[in-house]
Amino acid sequence: MKRFVAKLALLSLPLIAGAAYVARPTDAIAGEKCQIAVKGSSPTARACAKGGRDEARKVMKDMVTAAKTNGGKFSCDGCHQDVVSYELKPNAVEDYKKLQAASGMK
Ligand code: HEC
Repeated sequence: MKRFVAKLALLSLPLIAGAAYVARPTDAIAGEKCQIAVKGSSPTARACAKGGRDEARKVMKDMVTAAKTNGGKFSCDGCHQDVVSYELKPNAVEDYKKLQAASGMK
């Protein structure tokens, strides 16, 4: 029984850590490194290399805004599960090409 409790405690640790992570206010994430756009030479990957997620967010926002003026409709949550982990949805990589093309960014 004791072992079981210890195991439970171990199992719930990442959950607690995860919850704390999600609860962090977005402006406290400044200086965070990119986890996804870590290779390649997309505008986002280049921004990541330059200034981490802060810079990547800016570039992604610029792309979405630029695409909009060209008639494209994109939103962050159309490609990202959430704006904390930025985990990609299944369509994200394909749609990114469309977003980039519509934004005219190289
Ligand atoms: C059309 C799909 C799409 C849309 C819309 C989109 N993103 Fe992205 N985003 C991606 C893809 C794909 C990557 C990974 C790019 C790569 O690997 O080069 C990415 C990467 C990122 C990253 C880097 C994350 C990391 O850890 O590497 C951030 C930050 C980000 N996006 C923020 C945003 C924000 C903020 C918006 C809304 C303004 C947005 N994205 C809209 C597809 C999208």
